Amino acid sequence: MPANNSTKVFFDSYAHGFDSIYGKNTPLFKRIINDVFRRTIKIRYEKTLMGCEPLDGKSIIDIGCGPGRYSIALAHKGAGSVLGIDFSEEMLNIAKQNALAMSVSEKCRFECCDFVTQPILGMFDYAIVMGVMDYIKEPLELMEKVISATSDKAFFSFPADGGFFAWQRKLKYKFRCDLYMYTEERLKNLFERIPNKKIECERIDRDFFISIHLK
Ligand SMILES: C[S@@+](CC[C@H](N)C(=O)[O-])C[C@H]1O[C@@H](n2cnc3c(N)ncnc32)[C@H](O)[C@@H]1O
Repeated sequence: MPANNSTKVFFDSYAHGFDSIYGKNTPLFKRIINDVFRRTIKIRYEKTLMGCEPLDGKSIIDIGCGPGRYSIALAHKGAGSVLGIDFSEEMLNIAKQNALAMSVSEKCRFECCDFVTQPILGMFDYAIVMGVMDYIKEPLELMEKVISATSDKAFFSFPADGGFFAWQRKLKYKFRCDLYMYTEERLKNLFERIPNKKIECERIDRDFFISIHLK
C-alpha cells in the first residue's frame, strides 16, 4: 500500500528545518532546543555509524535518507557505494548539495521514490532505516522487504509510545501526517513474525534502536 502523500508534503516543507538539526551553524537558541528535543536523532546517528562496521568497500542502502547525512558520512568514512532513497524531492536536493560539499558525490546516488511501492533495488551489505518507521502503516511488509535486500546488517529506529515526549510528538504531527508509535510489546509481536533472524532491540531516549544481523 502506498505511503500517505501527506508525509511527503510534510517533509518537502520541513526539509531545511530537519537538516538544520545536524548543522553546526545553527543559531545558539535553536541548538539548545535541538539538543533537548533531538537528542535521539544524534544517538541513533552515532549508533548506526558504529554499527556499519567493517565499512571499507561496503554497499549501503539508506531508506528515507532525508538530507543524506548518514549516506554522506558513510561514504566519507570509506563505504564503497551508498544509495539514498526518499520520496521528498526537497530532501534529496539538500542531500545532493551536502554530498557535493563533502566531495562524495561519485559514491552517493540519490533516488526519488516511495520505498513502500518501489520494487526491490538490488542487494546491499547494510541497510539503514532511521526515522522512517514512524510513518509506515504496514511495518512487517517494509521490514521483510528491507531484509530481502540486505546481506549483512539492517538498522531501524521505531518511535517509542508513552510519556511526555510521545505526547508532544503526536501533537506536532496531528494535522500533518499519520504517525505510528510503538510499545515494547508491539515490537515484540512484530519481531515474532520475522522468524530465524537475530534481532536486537535497545531503548534509546525517545526511540527503539533495532539491529538485525543477517549473517
Ligand atoms: C525524519 S526523516 C529522517 C531522515 C534521515 N533518515 C535521518 O534520520 O536523518 C524521514 C524521511 O523519510 C522519508 N520517507 C518517509 N516515508 C517514506 C517512504 N515510504 N519512501 C521514501 N521515503 C520516505 C521522508 O520523506 C523523510 O525524508
